[in-house]
Amino acid sequence: MRVCIVGASGKLGQYMVQHALDCHYEVIGVCREQSVPKLDRFKGRISVVPGPTNDRNVIKKAVEGCDGVLTVLVPWGVQQYSSGTAQAVLDYAPPSARLVFSCGWHISRDGRDVYPRTFKLTVGIFAWIARVLRFAQLDDQVEACRRIFASGARWTVVRGSELEEGPSQGLPVWSHHVGDPILASNLTRRTDFALFMVAALENDALIHEAPAIVGRQAPSATVHHEGSK
Ligand SMILES: NC(=O)c1ccc[n+]([C@@H]2O[C@H](COP(=O)([O-])OP(=O)(O)OC[C@H]3O[C@@H](n4cnc5c(N)ncnc54)[C@H](OP(=O)(O)O)[C@@H]3O)[C@@H](O)[C@H]2O)c1
Repeated sequence: MRVCIVGASGKLGQYMVQHALDCHYEVIGVCREQSVPKLDRFKGRISVVPGPTNDRNVIKKAVEGCDGVLTVLVPWGVQQYSSGTAQAVLDYAPPSARLVFSCGWHISRDGRDVYPRTFKLTVGIFAWIARVLRFAQLDDQVEACRRIFASGARWTVVRGSELEEGPSQGLPVWSHHVGDPILASNLTRRTDFALFMVAALENDALIHEAPAIVGRQAPSATVHHEGSK
């Protein structure tokens, strides 16, 4: 399988590169020019297409002939980075390709997620500060996902809980809506978020789903495991 990883140089991206190589996939990584050295440990094992991920020509070149595209959607900057990246992937990935996008629990597909008050408050404060200081556009990540949800491509949007570093606990469990008891612990190892993204490439049951994930060994997951997918 030929897999493009958009945002390969970030923490999540590097974990995805490693997991994809472990699956013996051919990997093409996309990252900003200044971040290429962050991928040095993969030299000779992956191809890198340098450039901003919302540059349509960069994405067009990188996704050509790919069977899967893993995209890290981030709200950084005020240049429609998320929606520009998502739109380019939707426009240029081969129609048969599996497209898997990352975001956080704050994205809701159908408005039926039930968020803890502290979660809503934290997201609201972050969005306000980011808008005033012009370092991020949370609304643009929402817009990116709106476009993905509306598309006919073979997409999955993986919604991550709070993240921590540490050794793998195995494939995270998931549920359709934040607020479902199995997700209550709100914590996933970052390496396992990446594992879920890579595994989604070959899991057609996740097509047109927006799974909200939590660590397999998180307390809420171990208690409510029978409800997990
Ligand atoms: N952090 C959390 O607690 C959390 C929680 C839930 C979900 N998520 C989701 O998980 C995914 C990855 O999150 P992460 O925290 O692990 O981050 P990450 O993987 O370290 O990714 C950050 C990405 O943003 C890029 N980036 C940083 N600053 C940028 C800028 N000014 N302009 C353009 N790109 C910039 C980085 O590229 P360079 O390498 O070029 O800098 C990198 O690809 C995201 O989809 C996020 O929504 C995160």
